[in-house]
Amino acid sequence: MTLKDKVLAELMLADGDYCSGERLAEKFSVTRAAVWKVMEQLKAQGCQIDAVTSKGYLLKEIPDLYSQTYLLSLLQDTKSNWQIQHFDEIDSTNALAKKLAFRGAPQGTVITADVQTAGRGRLGKSFHSPQGGLYLSVIGRPVLAISSMMSVTACTAVVVHQALQAFGVETEIKWVNDLFLNGKKICGILSEGGFNAEFLKMDYLVIGIGINLRPDPHLPEELKPIVTDVQTETGMKINKCQLIAEILRNLETYSGTEDGTEYLKIYTEHSCTLGHRVRTDTGLEGLAVGFADDAGLQIRLEDGSEMILRTGSAQIID
Ligand code: BTN
Repeated sequence: MTLKDKVLAELMLADGDYCSGERLAEKFSVTRAAVWKVMEQLKAQGCQIDAVTSKGYLLKEIPDLYSQTYLLSLLQDTKSNWQIQHFDEIDSTNALAKKLAFRGAPQGTVITADVQTAGRGRLGKSFHSPQGGLYLSVIGRPVLAISSMMSVTACTAVVVHQALQAFGVETEIKWVNDLFLNGKKICGILSEGGFNAEFLKMDYLVIGIGINLRPDPHLPEELKPIVTDVQTETGMKINKCQLIAEILRNLETYSGTEDGTEYLKIYTEHSCTLGHRVRTDTGLEGLAVGFADDAGLQIRLEDGSEMILRTGSAQIID
């Protein structure tokens, strides 16, 4: 970890108290001049740091910067052996996670990035991933039948919904994998995996989560009516490391639960799909009336018969 990363973590953990330059220099076995230099670098990156001769340095507001040391300290009391790699910019965190998983990376490997240049969405779509978002992929190696993949995506929607709720943000879940705020999308989830044909099981799982946290000044025109971000809708500037920690904590909790459908109650309560008329990709229309145990969408068609939708998407039409 760089000195800058470690100093930033100390400032964040001080939670509004001053950190003495002398103590920081001692702790990291560097000179006070080196600490001062790091403070200048942090200021240049937008951190508001108050420096008072007799007291030291104080962070006026938790900045929108990633610190690995800070994130790991927030995860100290979790059981998983998190192996986190952060990138300022990457093509896709899911693409790298899949490569690493294929080569044997263990459960708990996490890839995060500030920007994605080729973010991937469901159904072969792209996922717009500018600065100001949270892009995260987690490798899991659960003992799972391939048929459970839909539950994984839906359960992850609950994981992220609850993580945002811990910061006071109330999202709605649109089947199967989107989180909405005030009628617009703020989060997408893409679960991918490697399949073991011999045992008909998942070999590895990659859970990819993208959340729009800050306004994007260059949001493409065609996305403006359907996409938004947490800050625009709530005025809240959620710290990225704190949110990642909350998500990983919730993922750990759910992956350790015996009852695989426990999440479904929350998924149902916060659904913005249920009770609405939907249209499937194949053009079928009907009323969304419930969820199957694997989070498949139960649709009542015009003739009164019911079907369970397990692939593709369902557009809400009224
Ligand atoms: C969707 O809305 O269709 C799913 C979007 C999933 C986006 C996340 S961002 C982190 C991870 N890396 C990717 O390339 N995609 C997922």
